Parts: sequence; C-alpha cells; structure tokens
Amino acid sequence: MFSYEGKKALVTGAGRGIGRAIALAFARQGADVALAARSRDQLEEVAEEIRALGRQAYVLPTNLGDVLAADAMVGQGVEAMGALHVLVNNAGGGVDVPGDFGPLAETSPEAFDAMYALNVRSPLFAAIAAAKQMGAQGTGGAILNIVSIDAVFPAPTEALYGSAKAALVNLTKVLGYEVGPDRVRVNAIAPGVVETALTAPWLATEEMRQDRASFYPLGRVGQPDDVAAAAVYLCSDEAGWVSGNVLYVTGGQLATSDVFRWTRAHNPVPESARI
Ligand SMILES: NC(=O)c1ccc[n+]([C@@H]2O[C@H](COP(=O)([O-])OP(=O)(O)OC[C@H]3O[C@@H](n4cnc5c(N)ncnc54)[C@H](OP(=O)(O)O)[C@@H]3O)[C@@H](O)[C@H]2O)c1
Repeated sequence: MFSYEGKKALVTGAGRGIGRAIALAFARQGADVALAARSRDQLEEVAEEIRALGRQAYVLPTNLGDVLAADAMVGQGVEAMGALHVLVNNAGGGVDVPGDFGPLAETSPEAFDAMYALNVRSPLFAAIAAAKQMGAQGTGGAILNIVSIDAVFPAPTEALYGSAKAALVNLTKVLGYEVGPDRVRVNAIAPGVVETALTAPWLATEEMRQDRASFYPLGRVGQPDDVAAAAVYLCSDEAGWVSGNVLYVTGGQLATSDVFRWTRAHNPVPESARI
C-alpha cells in the first residue's frame, strides 16, 4: 500500500519544514517531485536529497504571493515532469507585513491582501490549474491543502491567518465536490504546532517547549513527519474514496475552550487595541 511509483508530485513551500518533509516522504514512496518556494538554494538542497533516493527532482523558484506565478508554477511542473498526479499547497503562513498578526484593530488592508494572496488566492488557482491538468490527463489525482488548526478553532491575534486558512477549508470542500467527477480528490490537513522555522520562536527554551507540549493530550508538539505521513495517506491511491475532508494532525487537541484559555494566557489583547 501507499506506493507512489510512477506518480509526479508538486509540493509548494518545499524548501524547509513541513513541505520538505512531505516532498521527501513522497520521494521515499516512489514519486518524482517538483519543488516550489522563493529560496532556490533551499529547494536545491531538498532536490539533492530526493535524487539521492533515486527519484527525479525539479526546482521551481516561485513567489506564491503572486497568483499568476502560482498558475505558471503548475504549468512548469507539468512541463518538467510530463504529468501531474499530486499537488500539495503547503506554502503559507505569515507575510512579513505589519499587521499580519496581532489584534484586528491593528491590522491593515496591505496585511489582509498579502495574507489572503499567499494563503487563499494562490492555493486556489494552483489547485484549479492542477485539477484541469489531472482531468485532461484522464488519470485523476490528489490535491492537498495545508491549512491550520486556527482555521477550525479561531485564535485571537491570529485572525487574518486563521480566517484565510478557514477560507481555504471552504474552497477545499467545494472544489472537491466540483472536480470529483474527474476523479480528482481535494483534501486538507489542519496541523497544530509543528516544530519548524515558523514556530521556532515559540519553542526557543525548554520551558516554552514544555508549556506548548502540555497543551496537547499526546504530550508533545508535532514534527514535520507527523504531517508528511498524513499527506502520504491522503494523496495515495488507498485514499481513493476520501475527498473534501480536513484531517486534524494536532496531538489530540479537540476543544476550542482549551485554545482560548491558552491564547488568553499567552497572547492577551493589549488595552490599546481594544475596540
Ligand atoms: N509549523 C506549524 O506549526 C504549522 C501549523 C499549522 C499550519 N502550518 C502551515 O503549514 C505550512 C508550512 O509551514 P512550516 O511551518 O513548514 O513553515 P516554514 O518552515 O516557514 O516553511 C514555509 C515554506 O513556504 C515557503 N514560502 C513562504 N512564503 C512563500 C511565498 N510567498 N512564495 C513561495 N513560497 C513561500 C518557504 O520558502 P521561501 O521563504 O523560500 O519562499 C518555505 O519553503 C504553512 O502553510 C503553514 O501555515 C504550520
């Protein structure tokens, strides 16, 4: 089970963290992989790791803040690999624009636009381009969107990010419905805190790590391979009757009240930002 022999996969944000782990996991299962992100040097390093596994790897430097680049990236992936069976929209997160995180009263239209461009608009149009290709090939395929637990349990001070990921959940379900007749499946994974460069500031000391870990019933924060294993399942032929789903990879975290209690304690809304 879970063989990717003969499959061609495109993974965004594949230079580090969760995307790198997914790309390597697909290659270990037998896929050739196209890798997209902005930092060419990081993509080249992952490509070398994939080639050492005996698979083909292709580097596609792409800024996914730009929707036209997202669309073009899918075409470049198809051109390089000759086909496309799996797309993982993993690139996402903050956008380094003042107001991308923090109280809503302190956000800005620029932060909103950049956040939605990276986390909603580009994944959607990449998914549409990929679904068209998979349909035209006659093979079907799998599209996976990496969202966040913030999409499901709103987290104060992370509302632009969480609402963008929530929009992507909605689009996951509707696109899955619409492209199902072409045997294209569309799913999402909603991770909790996973140890990557993104979350490194939250796990900087042993005390902070233990504090985060204690929040999860399974007693630890996530690792990129926890998400990669779920991605291997959802994009495999064995998940051939699974579409429109969101899989929580969250260490057993289920309750919204826990999220609010933790966020209130660690990320309170400052007096100055109260509306
Ligand atoms: N880590 C967590 O705890 C966690 C939890 C829930 C959800 N997630 C989601 O999981 C995904 C991966 O997160 P991560 O923790 O692995 O993040 P990360 O370590 O910061 O890696 C992010 C990847 O996305 C790429 N990327 C960022 N902005 C981009 C842009 N404008 N265009 C193209 N590529 C871009 C980065 O490469 P460049 O900077 O070189 O472009 C990098 O390869 C994100 O969607 C994030 O929202 C993460």
